[in-house]
Amino acid sequence: MSEALAQTTPTRGGFLPRLGSVLAIAPLGVWVAWHLWENLYAWRGDAAWSERAVDTVVTAEGRAYVGNPLSAALVSAVVFAPLLIHVAWGLRRLSMAKPNGYRFFGNAKYVLQRLSALGLLGFIAAHVYLARIGPGLHSPTGHESFEDLAGHMRHHLPTLVVYLLGVLGTTFHLANGVYTASFIHGIAASPRAQRRMQAVSVALFVVLLGVGWGAVAGLYVAGAPYIPPG
Ligand code: HEM
Repeated sequence: MSEALAQTTPTRGGFLPRLGSVLAIAPLGVWVAWHLWENLYAWRGDAAWSERAVDTVVTAEGRAYVGNPLSAALVSAVVFAPLLIHVAWGLRRLSMAKPNGYRFFGNAKYVLQRLSALGLLGFIAAHVYLARIGPGLHSPTGHESFEDLAGHMRHHLPTLVVYLLGVLGTTFHLANGVYTASFIHGIAASPRAQRRMQAVSVALFVVLLGVGWGAVAGLYVAGAPYIPPG
């Protein structure tokens, strides 16, 4: 087995066993990249972030949700359904994991891909609860407000640390996943093509991490005036 292939769990041929991998790239991975990007609107303040990132208009009278409920449901289906399928697929592959005997870099990425998967399980659950489920129960817009998110990012250290680590884990998992998926699906079969995909994966990781941490920094900077209650 090549060193590249040893960084993943062998996949049986056929479409269904590969479905969890395909969905993780698109729509899930594409949506994650877009989601990190749109949160950069934090640098332009409350109104820009709320309108662009969460479909909410901020006026002197207050906030109103302006998104089409049908399109919101569709987005949820496009994101949450593939996520659930990928998690089921990933949990099965986690149960088959065993450290490979290859060089440090390959082995480290194999272990980090699985550790980041476990971290992502906790991070995504907490993030979805705080950003959608909790506000869905208590707020008229159904979304966590800018003041709340930015204020916690600035004045509540655990929130800042969790978002920094969550974005680090997500971007590593996605960028390294693009690399492993490329040879699982036969896109990078030769050693030369695998080296090229490795470079693409590292570049993707650096760009996504820059965008994601840039968004966290934007929220941190904007959060100074919003001191959370209690
Ligand atoms: C933001 C959400 C996520 C995205 C965008 C994502 C993306 C990816 C991608 C692109 C791959 C590579 C697929 C391949 O090698 O064919 C992958 C692999 C993997 N994912 Fe995820 N993932 C996410 C969340 C999760 C979660 C929550 C888990 C928890 C079970 C998980 C478990 C795994 C595992 C175990 C692998 C390695 C499979 C292997 O190489 O054998 N992922 N992920």
